[in-house]
Amino acid sequence: MTSLNTRRFLKVAGLIAAGLWLAACSKQEPASPAAAPAAAPAAKVYVVGTDAAYAPFESQNERGEIVGFDIDIVKAIAAKAGMEVKFVNTPWEGIFNSLNQGDRDLLVSAITITDERRQSMDFTEPYFDAVQLIAVRKDSPVTKFEDLKTLKVGVQTGTTGDEVVTQLLGKDNTNVRRFESTPLALKELESGGVDAVVADNGVVNHYVANNSTAAFKTVSDSSFAPEQYGIAVRKGNTELLAKLNEGLAAIRADGTYDRIYAQYFGAPAAAGAASK
Ligand code: ARG
Repeated sequence: MTSLNTRRFLKVAGLIAAGLWLAACSKQEPASPAAAPAAAPAAKVYVVGTDAAYAPFESQNERGEIVGFDIDIVKAIAAKAGMEVKFVNTPWEGIFNSLNQGDRDLLVSAITITDERRQSMDFTEPYFDAVQLIAVRKDSPVTKFEDLKTLKVGVQTGTTGDEVVTQLLGKDNTNVRRFESTPLALKELESGGVDAVVADNGVVNHYVANNSTAAFKTVSDSSFAPEQYGIAVRKGNTELLAKLNEGLAAIRADGTYDRIYAQYFGAPAAAGAASK
């Protein structure tokens, strides 16, 4: 009896010991990959969201590459700040969400700095001055913004152009025609679906200059408030914001900004001169 009990005891004890040993081994396993000598950490690539249908600020060339003034500015800033950047075409309507959800690290998209947007994101120092501009067909009687009150007006949804037109025509006015992109609104002006388009001056001027068959003219109005573009980062991302602001200051100081500006808009004294 005694020896049987002893044998049983030894067997149970052995099983327990084996179990503990296995448990200890399996517990260690998840830890081991982390403990393995890590390769040099890959440099962070900052993902830049941009709605690339807004020439000359951002658009896609024949090869599908994202190009434009904003792109060159961010590339130059990144070079100064020692950052690696990658541009991802991002529809305007989802662009701010893509930033807040972490899918994009920063946005450059001719974004006007507004108090409302400042509530949900942070902006760099301004890098470009803009103002709304009206596009109409050449035979249009429109001479001022007020004249649009009874007309069909195309805007890009959720832009500052949308805001001013909605304010003039009224929130529920079906004459405010909202489009996914500004080029789509301008196409609609060409085909007669709308009587005017209101958008940023740089983009309207560029379109009119490059689409002579569209037969448009522009109408400015002193009631439009001055706007400034900023690069957006997630609210509270002070580290990235500081890098971008330092890079921006550096490209202004060494003439890089002026060189890029002249490439797209001619002499710095031209309309839409950059704020300093
Ligand atoms: N500046 C205007 C705004 O911030 C329009 C910007 C539209 N940008 C674009 N890439 N589609 O509302």
